[in-house]
Amino acid sequence: MPFYHRQGNIPPKRHTQFRKPDGNLYAEELISTAGFSSIYSLVYHCSPPTLVKDIGEAWSVEPDYVLKKNMRNRSFLSFKTAPVDDYLSSKVVLMGNTDVTLISAAPTKGSDDYFVKNSDADEVIFIHEGSGKLETVYGEINFEYGDYLVIPRGTIYKIHFDTPKNRLFIIESFSPIVPPKRYRNEFGQLMEHSPFCERDIKLPQNLQTHDEKGDFKVHIKKQNMIYPYIYATHPFDAIGWDGFVYPFGFSIHNYEPITGRLHMPPPIHQTFEGHNFVICSFVPRLYDYHPLSVPAPYNHSNVDSDEILYYVDGDFMSRKHVERGMISLHPKGIPHGPHPGTVEKSLGVKETKELAVMIDPFYPLHLTSAALEMEDINYWKSWVE
Ligand SMILES: [Fe+2]
Repeated sequence: MPFYHRQGNIPPKRHTQFRKPDGNLYAEELISTAGFSSIYSLVYHCSPPTLVKDIGEAWSVEPDYVLKKNMRNRSFLSFKTAPVDDYLSSKVVLMGNTDVTLISAAPTKGSDDYFVKNSDADEVIFIHEGSGKLETVYGEINFEYGDYLVIPRGTIYKIHFDTPKNRLFIIESFSPIVPPKRYRNEFGQLMEHSPFCERDIKLPQNLQTHDEKGDFKVHIKKQNMIYPYIYATHPFDAIGWDGFVYPFGFSIHNYEPITGRLHMPPPIHQTFEGHNFVICSFVPRLYDYHPLSVPAPYNHSNVDSDEILYYVDGDFMSRKHVERGMISLHPKGIPHGPHPGTVEKSLGVKETKELAVMIDPFYPLHLTSAALEMEDINYWKSWVE
């Protein structure tokens, strides 16, 4: 997150001798991004973060993209994703390209006996159902329904759930996830016209220092392989850290909608962005208030991007037959628009309760066999009465 945060104890000056009560040195680690050219954090470990004891046999989690060229409006019922005990095994890739991967997961348990590290991608975990706690070397973040958990690549974490009933929609981004630049001033501060500000960000808190030795299994993802590393020290052994690189949470319920007299375009919903895609939040809001306004969206052609809508809750005025966890894919190349009758139905309506997450990637998405198994195969002709 592009603002400064710190937890625990750190020395008054960086790169200087910082000693434990017994006189030994803490081990400083620089976590840098874009080489040494962008945001970074400095973490002070009780032991060096380099003590690898063993490396197990790696396994592949390469997505099986069986449909690489799509020119059809489609929809998928992601709640068909089967509940699975193991957190990492519960992740089902539905679609993706070289910028972003979209995943559905219904883990009944967290990563209780191992740690997770994604070296390929920043992760945005949208909590559709469930609650729990994300533990990291930067501190803890409690999460609940409606939270986006944004985890920068390289962050070692453990995720715990309060109950077995969890539904996650996960966006993996091969570039840093950031708030839209137009909402930040020259210093990075979120400005007055931004739909959220720093106070809405859930920062890592309650830093726990696990100065422990033993066998600590970290499942590290790189190039779509999982490498099981065994470290000799607990990954969460920091006494303190500071900087700009850290995981954070943001609740979709804290997104303050921007409304107008006439229909406002999708960028007003934009919450985050990565390279070649955006993430938007559609939240309950008052409708357009011009006396002749048409609250339902106009037909539109995605000339430059595919468009994914993940339906969370509420009612969706421009769509028929929508259910929770449904994902629509409207590809670039053909227009899409409101379903028959929904424009007339929207006239004079004062507000919407819809809640949805939208992803617009600028390059076409490939689809996996898992996605096709969840597809409503008649969706593409659902505009014809
Ligand atoms: Fe659209």
